[in-house]
Amino acid sequence: MKMIKNTLFSEKQAVIGPDSGYDNYIMAIESSCDETACAIVKNGREVIANVVASQIKTHAQFGGVIPEIAAREHLDSINIVIEEAFKQAKDNAGINPEDITAFAGTVGPGLVGCLLVGLNAAKTLALVYDKPFIGVNHLNAHLCGNYLDTDLKPPFMALLVSGGHTQIIDVKSYSEQQIIGETIDDAVGEAYDKVARLVGLPYPGGPKLDKMAQEGNPKAYILPKAKVDEFDFSFSGLKTAVLRLVKQLKAEYNTDELPENILKDVCASFQECVSSTLVKKVRKALDKTGYKQVVIAGGVAANSEIRKKIFALENDGFKVFAPPMKYCTDNAAMVASCAYFNTNTFDDINVEVFSRVK
Ligand code: KG4
Ligand code: ZN
Repeated sequence: MKMIKNTLFSEKQAVIGPDSGYDNYIMAIESSCDETACAIVKNGREVIANVVASQIKTHAQFGGVIPEIAAREHLDSINIVIEEAFKQAKDNAGINPEDITAFAGTVGPGLVGCLLVGLNAAKTLALVYDKPFIGVNHLNAHLCGNYLDTDLKPPFMALLVSGGHTQIIDVKSYSEQQIIGETIDDAVGEAYDKVARLVGLPYPGGPKLDKMAQEGNPKAYILPKAKVDEFDFSFSGLKTAVLRLVKQLKAEYNTDELPENILKDVCASFQECVSSTLVKKVRKALDKTGYKQVVIAGGVAANSEIRKKIFALENDGFKVFAPPMKYCTDNAAMVASCAYFNTNTFDDINVEVFSRVK
């Protein structure tokens, strides 16, 4: 249970969350990177509105996200996604803006200029409708993507894999979590994007590499697995190994551009190395805690091979949760769910954005 008292204009108090005793409709806004998103979720699980405006096309021409341009695009899209979410809520569930229980916004980590657009919009809505405001951590929100349309309840083990993070998290309860392992250098998504670039695939590299890998031979090349602590990861050595392999293959084939079948084998071998390392360590963490449930979250949870290997744990009696693709990549429904379940949220309307995990 969570008593919320925002103190700027309103002295209103509200009880939000599973024990509030009434239906909660939380509208959330997400704008931490290159997706402008707004959603309305009933009781943390039932999505009644979900709108995402993607900037992928804009940033593709630069080969990556340009923060200043991203922030300006958020400004162009923010009112449109909010209006569309209100419209969907009305059409799908007869819910009006006055029926919203609380407004939530992503506080960080993310690009500061981008976060400011969404967060200020969410705070403004809270003030206009005189409702509580809840600030949400983007990483916790990714975990909560697993509560959407499911009956998942803690405790469980989580593998959080995104462009900025790679963590194994022991989720003990809705509000209590412990990171038990993480990357000591590159995040998985970052490694995917860097390797994609060095083999000549266009932005966004991760999904493109995944697609190539699916058509290649994962056993074509043996790539090195880093030696780090039991539950930690390291991907920078692997990236260098792929660079060396590509150089060697180019020399062998006497070409500047590798034949597509060879490129597919390189991608598949990289994907095999990453996915087997991740899932092996998750399995170890499950054995250590005795948990029977495991979830995968973050943008890289969309990866075909990581999903396949995680779901294979079901053969060993584990219950596996992975959000559908639309809740893997950045979206606001996961932010609304996080605000409802009170997973390390901030309920002061004066909360500031932050770029990195503190
Ligand atoms: O969580 P996310 O949407 O953004 C944050 O980092 O917060 O994750 C984006 C990352 C990018 O690095 C992208 O390349 C990667 O997720 N990604 C994938 C796939 N889809 C997205 N990586 C590998 N395979 C995929 N199918
Ligand atoms: Zn994300």
